[in-house]
Amino acid sequence: MTPTATTAVFPDHVPQELRWDHSLAEFNNQLDDPFVAASRLLDGPPLFWARDAVHGRPGWVIARHALLQEAFMDWEHFSSEGGMDLSLMLGVDWSLNPVNIDPPRHTGYRRVLTPMFTPKAVSHMEGAVRETCDRLIAQFVARGSCDFVSEFAMPFPTYIFLSLMGMPVDMAQQFFQWEQNLLHGTDMQGRVIAARSILAYLEGHLAQQKIKPATPLMEAIMVAEIDGKKLNDGEILGMFYTFYVGGLDTVYATISWSMRYIATRPHFQQFLRDNPDKLNKAVDELLRMFSVVSTQRRITRDFEFHGVKMKENDLVVMPIFIACRDPAAYPDPHEADLERKSQMLSFATGPHLCLGMHLARREIRIAIESFLERFNNIHITPGDAYEYHAGPTFNVDRLPLSWNPAR
Ligand code: HEM
Repeated sequence: MTPTATTAVFPDHVPQELRWDHSLAEFNNQLDDPFVAASRLLDGPPLFWARDAVHGRPGWVIARHALLQEAFMDWEHFSSEGGMDLSLMLGVDWSLNPVNIDPPRHTGYRRVLTPMFTPKAVSHMEGAVRETCDRLIAQFVARGSCDFVSEFAMPFPTYIFLSLMGMPVDMAQQFFQWEQNLLHGTDMQGRVIAARSILAYLEGHLAQQKIKPATPLMEAIMVAEIDGKKLNDGEILGMFYTFYVGGLDTVYATISWSMRYIATRPHFQQFLRDNPDKLNKAVDELLRMFSVVSTQRRITRDFEFHGVKMKENDLVVMPIFIACRDPAAYPDPHEADLERKSQMLSFATGPHLCLGMHLARREIRIAIESFLERFNNIHITPGDAYEYHAGPTFNVDRLPLSWNPAR
């Protein structure tokens, strides 16, 4: 049975003092920087109920690092199943796999996928990632300027996705367009059309992979068995779809926010050029500061969380972008501190810890490294401005950059 989420804007079990009569997305769009805008919620209650928590739906918002960490670990109360709308949009009976499946079923799928995304496995992708990066930069290097978002940050992870999946490079533009319509479209019909077009393509790809798997990842999925049984089409399509929605928007958004930070901090930029050994730490700090993801959970049964009564089927929004600016976890949270030793939550924690985190880190490092090596004095083009929108993910829409050629 599909669980029904709470529909009342302010249900009876939510006390008056925890009712927040706003839209989280509108609130986050109020300032020049949505991360700073969202961090204002750290001055309010650690847990509150928003009139519009996500896509117009009411629900709980967890607004502290410590509580969010705890909720990510507690999958028995905070379920990833049944609250998401992609299966409904597609009209299918399977879920995004493994992201919308709880343990213990989740564990079997992770066992299949984890070996393909270890640091060692990802190191074999380094060549493909660098080649993609170089190819994109070659298209604007001579111009001395670019729109970082449309010319680099968006196509970059799309090409990596295609190479992981063994799909033709000439599909990049099409995938890219579907992604835009699905994740950022404002009209529901357009989003549904994009979602179904992606599915139709993935179904065709699956049929081909059954005959001849195109990449090691495809091979691992095709031969995988759980409890002696091969994966069925729904389980595999759920995986394909998760790679698509999990690995594109997240990387593009993180690289864009990171590059904006670098382009507006000349000293930090030069420090990284002079100290390439600090780049990995810098990537982690950029990932922390620009934690773009806000994911969701559904409450499985009535229970009390830090003194607050939650009810079965309540929606819970897990805004990592608030937690990662929590000064209780990260002193001076709005600046990069390369000596910081605290735990990172950008990739979540618990059973659903991001499968692609080593790949993501490598993509981001290679992108930043390539720009710093090739270009001096990277800055936002004078007279021009960046644009963003903050929905469930925080995205940069435009980032006009200029630079001087490297010495
Ligand atoms: C900066 C880039 C990225 C960020 C910030 C990010 C963040 C996240 C987060 C927060 C989750 C947990 C979702 C939840 O608990 O509901 C997650 C899960 C996941 N991510 Fe990423 N991700 C990134 C890149 C990638 C890439 C490149 C891939 C490509 C394969 C990927 C694949 C996945 C998968 C498959 C899951 C589900 C894991 C599971 O349910 O066990 N991610 N990611």
